Formats: sequence, C-alpha cells, structure tokens
Amino acid sequence: MSLRSTAATVVTDNITPTDTTDSISSTDYVEDVSPGQGALPPRAWYAPGSSDAASLSLNGRWRFRLSGTADAEDGSFAAEGYDAGDWAEVSVPGHWVLQGDGAFGSPIYTNHLYPFPVDPPRVPTENPTGDHLRTFDLPDDWPTADGTDGDDTDTVLLRFDGVESCARVWLNGTELGEFKGSRLPHEFAVGHLLKPAGNVLAVRVHQWSAGSYLEDQDQWWLPGIFRDVTLLHRPAGAVTDFFVHASYDHVEGAGTLRVDSDVPGRVTVPALGVDVATGEPVTVPVDPWTAETPKLYDGVLATAGERVRLRIGFRTVVLEDGLIKVNGRPVLLKGVNRHEWHPERGRALDLDTMREDVLLMKRHNINAVRTSHYPPHPAFLDLCDEYGLWVIDECDLETHGFVEQAWRDNPVDDDRWTPALLDRAARMVERDKNHPSVVLWSLGNEAGTGRGLTAMAEWIRDRDGSRLIHYEGDWNCRDTDVYSRMYAPHEEVERIGQGLDGGPHRRRELPFIQCEYGHAMGNGPGGLADYQHIFETYNRIQGGFVWEWIDHGIADERYGFAYGGDFGEELHDGNFVCDGLLFPDRTPSPGLVEYKKVIEPVRMGGEGRGGTVRVTNRYDFADLSALAFAWSYEVDGETVESGTLSVPALAPGESAEVKLPEPPAVVGGGESQWTVRALLADDTAWGPRGHVVAWAQLPVARTPWPAVAASVSPVASGERLITLGPAAFDARTGDLRTIGTTQLTGLRLDVWRAPTDNDHGAHWQTDPRLGPLWRKLGLHRMRHRLDAVEPGDDALTVRTRVAPAGWEVGLATVYRWTSDGSRLKLTVAVTPEGEWTLPLPRLGIRFGLPSSAAGVRWFGGGPGEAYPDTRSASMLGLWHSTVDELQTPYVRPQENGARADVRWAELGGLRIEGDPEFWFTARRWTTEQLDAANHLTDLRPDGDRVWVNLDHGQMGIGSQSCGPGALPQYHLRARRTEFSFVFSATETGD
Ligand code: GAL
Repeated sequence: MSLRSTAATVVTDNITPTDTTDSISSTDYVEDVSPGQGALPPRAWYAPGSSDAASLSLNGRWRFRLSGTADAEDGSFAAEGYDAGDWAEVSVPGHWVLQGDGAFGSPIYTNHLYPFPVDPPRVPTENPTGDHLRTFDLPDDWPTADGTDGDDTDTVLLRFDGVESCARVWLNGTELGEFKGSRLPHEFAVGHLLKPAGNVLAVRVHQWSAGSYLEDQDQWWLPGIFRDVTLLHRPAGAVTDFFVHASYDHVEGAGTLRVDSDVPGRVTVPALGVDVATGEPVTVPVDPWTAETPKLYDGVLATAGERVRLRIGFRTVVLEDGLIKVNGRPVLLKGVNRHEWHPERGRALDLDTMREDVLLMKRHNINAVRTSHYPPHPAFLDLCDEYGLWVIDECDLETHGFVEQAWRDNPVDDDRWTPALLDRAARMVERDKNHPSVVLWSLGNEAGTGRGLTAMAEWIRDRDGSRLIHYEGDWNCRDTDVYSRMYAPHEEVERIGQGLDGGPHRRRELPFIQCEYGHAMGNGPGGLADYQHIFETYNRIQGGFVWEWIDHGIADERYGFAYGGDFGEELHDGNFVCDGLLFPDRTPSPGLVEYKKVIEPVRMGGEGRGGTVRVTNRYDFADLSALAFAWSYEVDGETVESGTLSVPALAPGESAEVKLPEPPAVVGGGESQWTVRALLADDTAWGPRGHVVAWAQLPVARTPWPAVAASVSPVASGERLITLGPAAFDARTGDLRTIGTTQLTGLRLDVWRAPTDNDHGAHWQTDPRLGPLWRKLGLHRMRHRLDAVEPGDDALTVRTRVAPAGWEVGLATVYRWTSDGSRLKLTVAVTPEGEWTLPLPRLGIRFGLPSSAAGVRWFGGGPGEAYPDTRSASMLGLWHSTVDELQTPYVRPQENGARADVRWAELGGLRIEGDPEFWFTARRWTTEQLDAANHLTDLRPDGDRVWVNLDHGQMGIGSQSCGPGALPQYHLRARRTEFSFVFSATETGD
C-alpha cells in the first residue's frame, strides 16, 4: 500500500542517472520554478542512530571552490579522478560565507526585500556558486562491499537535510539530480553507483535560484550545505515510509496505535504489551503525551530488513467548541518563534545547541515553539517530543518581498509555482508526521494569499487529518483552523477575545493566537504581562509566540556581534535581525527573564498580613505534585527565617488558600515581606531539583521614607565654596562638588535616555516614533540655565530652567539642599512650561563619581534590569553587583540596566536613599556615548568616571520596534513633580 496521496507525486520520480559530467552547460534548472528532479519522494525522517541499518555521515571537511556565476565552471569537477588538490576547504554542515574569513563572500541581511531585482523566476547573473567535493570510502563493516546486495535493488540512499538554495548532485561522475527547498530533506538512490573506496561526491550549490523567491524570510541569506549529509544503507526489506497514528481518548483513558508502513512488518511496544502487524490498530490504556507531561513509549517497527526505534506519544488534537483542544482540554500556548541560529555557524546547528535551546525554553516556562519560518533540523523535533513542547511546524515558504509590488506575481497565486509549493508541503509533512509535539502545520509565513496556499492546505488535510492548519497571512481564514495574527495591539486582542472583532463567519468560529507578538528587539519587549492577562481572561485566545527566540548576531572581532550592514550590503535592515530573547551567544536577556515570570504556571499572591498565600495551578494538564514550595521572610532584604510550605497537588485550574507560618518575631521596624517560591521537587529531564518555576512576594510592612531634619545652614567657605553638612558646593553655580570625601561631577536634572530599538519603532509603522521625535524636540541637548543660587537659613536653593534650543518648552527645576549635619537631602521640584506633547524618556538626576565606584549594593528590585512595563521579574531584595555587571549587552547599545523600586543604593562611598523609591542606573560611559554607539565595541569607559542616574520616572518600553508602543499607563508625562534623595557617606567608605 502506498501511503502517499496523489499530490505528493508532484515530487518528480527518480530520473535515470546518466553520465553527464562532460556535457553540463545548461543552468536552466536554477531558474526553473519546479522543485527539481531526481530526488526520491519524501518520507518519515528518523535519526540514523534509531535504526539498526548502517549509515555513514558525510559531514566534515569538503573541498570547496567558489565561482561568481552559475555557469562559470563546467561540471568536470564531478568526474572521477578530478584533482581538487588546490581547492580551499569548508566544513559541512556550514555556510561558505561564514567560513574563509571573508574570502568566500559575506552574509546579507534583509528583512523582506529581495536582495536582487524582483523578476520571478529569474535571478542575477552574479550568482555565487559553491562547488563542493568530498571523497569517501565505505567503512570496513559496511554491509555490502559495493553498496548493493548484488541484485538490482537500490540499497543505499544519499540524504541531504538542508542545502541553501539549490543544489545539483553527482556521485562518481553520474548526475543524480538537482533540488530546491533549502530547509527540507532530499534523498537520492545511490547504491548502484557506490564503490568500496574512492567514491567522489560532488555538489554544486547556487546561492540564488527560483527557490529564493519562496524563501524570503527575515534573516541572513546564507548559502551552503548547512545540514547533515548522510549515506543510509537500506537492506532488502528495510523500512521506507511509515506513519505512526497514536491518538488518545481522554474519556476512556486509552490510546489507539496504528503504524502504517509502506513495507509491512510488526510493531512492538513492550511497556504496553503491544505486538501488532503494521496497519493494524490496537487500543490500550496509556498515559497521554502533553507538552507538560511528555510521556513517550519506546517501540520498534520491525520489517524484514530493518528495526526502527519508535518514540510514541499518544495525543489527540481537535478543533472543538471553537478551541484548539488536546486530549479534550484547551491549551494556552506560551510560545516563542525559533529561527535556527548560532553566532559562528549560522543555521548549521549541532545537537547540543538544539538541546540547549529546548532546555532554556523549558527552564523559562515556555511551552510552545513556532518553527519560524521553516521546518527546523529534524532532530530538534525529537527533542520537543522528549522534553515536551507544543510545536507549530512551519513550511519553508515566505514571499514577503512581493508586498512591495502589491503582491503582483506572487508565486503563491500563480499555478506555475504550485508544484513547488506542494513539494514543500509534502516534504515537511512526510518528514515530521511522526512527532507528537507537532500539533499544527503552518503553510508558511508572510506570503500573501493565493491558490497555491489553498492547494497546500488541501493536500495537508488529506494527508494528515490529525492536526490543525495555521497560516497568519489570510485574515479570512479560508484555509486555516485558527485565526492568527501578528503584533495586534492589546486592545484589539481584547476585542477578539470578546468576539467583537467581526470578520467572516468562518473566522468568528475559530480560536485566536498571536503567532508573533512582543518584539524582543533590544531593550524589551514591554507589555508582556498585559498581554498575558488578556490571554488568560478570554477562552478564545489561546496564547501567543514572542518574536523571537534569539538574536541573529554574527560573532565578529570588529563589533562583538555583527548585524545587517556590517558586511557592506547594498540593501539591508540593520539590527532588525537582533530581536531575540537570547543574546546571540544564548545568554538570556532580561526579556526572557521577564517572559518566564509572566507565563509562570503557578500563580501566587495575597496580602502578606493576611496569613495565607493564594496558590493557583495554571498548567493545562499537570497537577502540582512535581513542585515543592518554599517560603522565606525578609526584613530589609535580609532573610530572617525560611521553610517549606505544604501545598496540595492542585489540579489544573484549581486554587487554594495556603496558610503561611506565624511571622517571625522581629526586633525593630524594617520593611518586611514573604517570598514564596514553587520549585522542582526532584531533578527532571530539563531542570534540577530546586529550580524556581514561579515566585511571588507578599508585602507585610513598609518603612517610612527617610527623614532628614534641616538642622544646619549653608555656610560660605572662602569665596568659592558653600558647605552644607557633609557637602561642599560651588558658590557661583550651586554645583555639588563633594559629599564627605567623595567628589561628584555634573549633578543635574536628566531627561534623556539612549533611545531603545522600541523607542525608535519600525520605519513602516504609522505610530509616531518616539526616539526621533524626542531628538527633534532636542531632549538629548537640553540646556541648563542658572537662575539663582540662594543660600537660606535651612537650605541651599538652586533655581534653573532646563530646555532645548529652538523650542518654548522647558522644565523649571529647583534643587533644594538641606542637611542634618551628617546627611544631605536633595529635593528636586520640576514644573513643565510650554506645551509638552511627548512623554519624557526619563526624569531624574545624573552625576559622575570617580571610577573607583566599581561595586554597588542596593535594596530594591533585582537582580536584573526593569522598566515600567518590563518589571514583572524584578524581585525586591538586597542585591550587589559591579557597575560592569549592571550593563545589559544589547547588540546595538541603547538604554539599559535600570533597577526598579530602589529604596537605597551604595556605591563609591555614598549611600543614596530615595523618597520615594527610584530607578537606579550606573555605567562607565555617559548616555551620550551610549547613544552614539552602534556596536558593543564602541562602548569604552569614560576615563575616570562612573555615571549614575537616579530616576523618579522612566518611560515604558513597549514593543514598537514591530508592534504597539508602551501602553498609556506606562507613559512618563511631563507634569509637576517633586522627588528627593538623601546622600550620606557609607560606613566603610566604599
Ligand atoms: C514579522 C515576520 C518575522 C519578522 C518580524 C519582525 O512580520 O513574520 O519574520 O520579520 O516580523 O522582526
């Protein structure tokens, strides 16, 4: 029985190999819209190690020759005996532009513009073409001396897991065929061509091809053989294609397994006592697979010639009651969009890197991945099965560049391209159909609308009715089972949740997801907690996927990490390629820490004085039995007592009021609170015992704001100075010079921050872009006019007006200094003048300290940075750090590193207390230097200073680099404001 339905036969049958090496001149195939010829029909992928059939990895060093055009060289290099001794070498898997130190061309980054003239299917004459050569011997233990079993059956396959963008292949001088579809597998039958030793595999790879029109994803263009190349022995009677159907009946608690196989055999699952013929269904009691409880049963598919390990997860995905349900329950997707990325190897990822991604996701409470915007390396899906992640598997298709011509000539609406689209759909579905983690197929990304997409959806539905179909580009949902959008603002998502968004009837019946939201470019994204609140409020909204997982920065000695434009590209989109929750080296950014907190699966809260904490299980499937709970009681950030909390194993959705112990008896006042944590009770596959899954703080008592009696008067000290308590001021300018022995420079009001990527906003958005507007108004060049220095009986008052050249707006600013002899209090009163139409970037003071101020202690939010709409993960505590460690290394430098809710901070011999609490920032460069920097390597310590910002307010962050700006409640408006700081010398003096 053939498993493939007719449409899959668009994959052209194996051609008869011919010896054509000396007659290859035509490069017509490069611009041919067809998917290629010679490759075998697609089939299920399994790792070579899961089969008892022999395999040989052909990864490693290959000979390499680069030409500037597709036809610069003839095919003679593919002939046996060709001497490639003077060629360079590259690593396979790899991209040639990331090897050879620039000798092999450079990467190009564009978001959606094609980096070549749009004239489909034609590509430029300048078409970097990489000839790859590799010779190999069959290993001594290879089952047959010459690759065959001695009969006419082909018994060895050559598999390419990914080549960008078009490849032509020869083995031992015989052409096997050519193919497109960069992130999809292609196999060739080669047994009859193999020799025991001295095999020559030749692969010609063209950077540009007709296929490039279908692969306009927002990422680097990176040609090369970037995934594995493998030789697979296929003994007579080996498995060809198979389809594991493993559903779960949540009413009966039973799983039904049926493994269809092109080659008949038996299926055994020892743990379930299953031993059935292929094609035969069997129903047994099972534990189901979910992303939270990824139960996999080990099985074997045995045919006459091969045994293949199966990892079976029973689960059923349906659209029911307008909701995506798995095993009978709606799921809430807390996802990320994952491109494959490694800062040195590009999209050539090894298994360890893939595993690191999965572990990082699990440890940050992420439960879903959209494989934006192509099927990932297949081993990644094995990991998703194993560790538990819901997957939207997306086809390798994007034609975004056609938007520039109002989608004219879009390949997805042109029948000539439909075979290529169907080929892509089939290669994805056939390869990945046996993964329980894959719950939705996605037709692609940003490809407009058209008949080709409908054809793909119809083919997929026919082939695999057990999953739902996703595609964002058609808001009418003609072909999809879920209404999906990207970057819809909060308010619109709320309306969708309420069913007030209208739209065609079909759409109104469907669940909603945000396949992209929370653009994690630079500092941010802001507003995640507000989105999550909406997602959790409305059933119709089944969650979303933050854009995106990792910055695609390229490790580069010149810059730290390079981004678009750093390789002299003619067209590029700058650092828009660095918009991930991980920095390029996979260090979590504050955005990921925030997201982890926002989506934590256990919610805890309550009144600290109430004696209980309310615990809610927000998992969809798991109870709380895998978690242990711990409490601690802190006074002024110091833990006074701690213990464990007994929490019932609440079922999903359940809540309980859990009694807290009696609060410890504490002598004296102090700010006190409970901190409650949910921890892994035992080691799990993805996290150690004690790993914090969720936490909450319950305030008990606050201390009053610091009081300083204005009991001493300013005193003239010589002609030039005025002293007040521990401080000395310039008598003429009123500038603060010293506090005790600490010298201060340039203390004054500050409203400027180095605009973030979100402040800048994306250039196609109609929202005003704050960064440029701020600059237009001159907030980065405020002038400070001195109006008066007034020594009084109990205060030194300095009156100023802070305003930009060219405009009427200004901030009347009064600094009032008082002291009780040992402490110095500054009260800043700000009164806006003129018409302020923009929010302020920040409002506070800044000053310089000697560079010896290297260590910082503070009581406030930490340990990481926070801003008004990115502060969920900011935990009140006693923290310490160095000034250097306070910096967040955004690939393009910008405002960063503020700590929220700071009650007091100590650095450089100074103690600073806030009235009220403040935002604390310290760095070795000025805001102006930070603003001017384009790369991390531009940031150099500013001589002998540490610059400190103490802010009363910060503007929210938002997600405007692609999406909505900060919500109104996070705007920092110019209004009459007063705030104070109390300075004193620290006891230790450092
Ligand atoms: C979306 C697109 C992504 C990425 C993102 C912005 O429109 O699907 O691939 O470009 O915007 O970073």
